[in-house]
Amino acid sequence: MKPNEPSRTALMIARQRAAHQVLDHGSILYDPFAIKILREDERDALQYANEHPLASIGRLFTAARSRIAEDALSRAVERGVRQIVILGAGLDTFALRNPHGARQIRIYEADHPATQAWKRLRLAEAQIALPSWLILVSVDFERDDVGEKLVAAGFQQNSPAFFTWLGVVPYLTPDAIGRTLGYMSSIQNSEVVFDYMEPPEAFSEELRQLEKERTEQLEKINERSVSRFESADIAAVLRSHGFCVIEDINFQEIASRFGRAVQGLAPGHAGVHVVHAKH
Ligand SMILES: C[S@@+](CC[C@H](N)C(=O)[O-])C[C@H]1O[C@@H](n2cnc3c(N)ncnc32)[C@H](O)[C@@H]1O
Repeated sequence: MKPNEPSRTALMIARQRAAHQVLDHGSILYDPFAIKILREDERDALQYANEHPLASIGRLFTAARSRIAEDALSRAVERGVRQIVILGAGLDTFALRNPHGARQIRIYEADHPATQAWKRLRLAEAQIALPSWLILVSVDFERDDVGEKLVAAGFQQNSPAFFTWLGVVPYLTPDAIGRTLGYMSSIQNSEVVFDYMEPPEAFSEELRQLEKERTEQLEKINERSVSRFESADIAAVLRSHGFCVIEDINFQEIASRFGRAVQGLAPGHAGVHVVHAKH
C-alpha cells in the first residue's frame, strides 16, 4: 500500500462484490450494501466486468471466499462464539448485514488506518450508520501488535474468537503473517478463514499472462502480492502455530461448488485457495 493512502485493492474487491449482485444476482453472496457502499461512478458493473478479463474469476473467488467464511462463522456463533474479528476489512459489509444481531456478538474490524478512515468517510457519504456491535480498530499488521490494538478496543483475549482474513495474506510479509497467525492461535478455540495465492506457475496457461499483467498493475499501486505459498507450505506454517484442523479448498473445488452461479465464467485454473483452520 502507498503510505497514508487507502488500499486500492479494497475498492477493486468491493466492485467485484457489487458486480456479483448485478450480474449473478448475489447467488453466492447476497449483499444489499455492496452497491450502496460504492460511489456513483464506481457502480457500473458491466463496464467493470468487460474492462477486466479476469473479472468473472475474481467475482467467483471474491464471493466464494466470503461465503465460505460467513458459513463457518455462523456455525461458530451457533456453538457460542461471540467475538468476530475481520482482519483487513476493506469495504467488507458483513458487519452491516450481521444476521446474528440478536445474539449480542461483537464485530471488530481491524484495518490499516488509511483504509479505515476512507471506509468511515464512504459509510458517512452513503448515509450508512455504524452498527452498535461494530468496533473499528486501526492497525498496521507490518508495524503494530495486533493483539495490543484489539485489547485496547475491548477484545477479550480469554474468550474464543472467529477471525476472517480475506484478500490480505498475499500483501503481507512472511513476518507479519507469522505474527498475526501466532496471535490468533494464542486465543483459545480460535478459528480463522483466509485465502492465499500460489506461485504463478500454478495458474493455467490462459490465466498466467493475465495474472502477470495484474501483478504488474498492482506493483504500480504499491500493492504487490509479496507472499505466495504452496499448499504444503501453508499447512506447515499453520501447524507450527498450533492449528491442526486445516481445510484447504482449492480453486477447482470452489469452481465446482459455486462456478455455475457466475455468469460467463472464464475457463482456466487459478492458483488461489481458501483455508479454514482451527485448533
Ligand atoms: C484486497 S483488500 C481486501 C479487503 C476485504 N477483506 C475484502 O475482502 O473486501 C486488502 C485489505 O488488506 C488491508 N491491508 C493490507 N496491508 C495491510 C497492513 N499492513 N496492515 C493492515 N491492513 C492491511 C488493506 O487495508 C485492505 O483493506
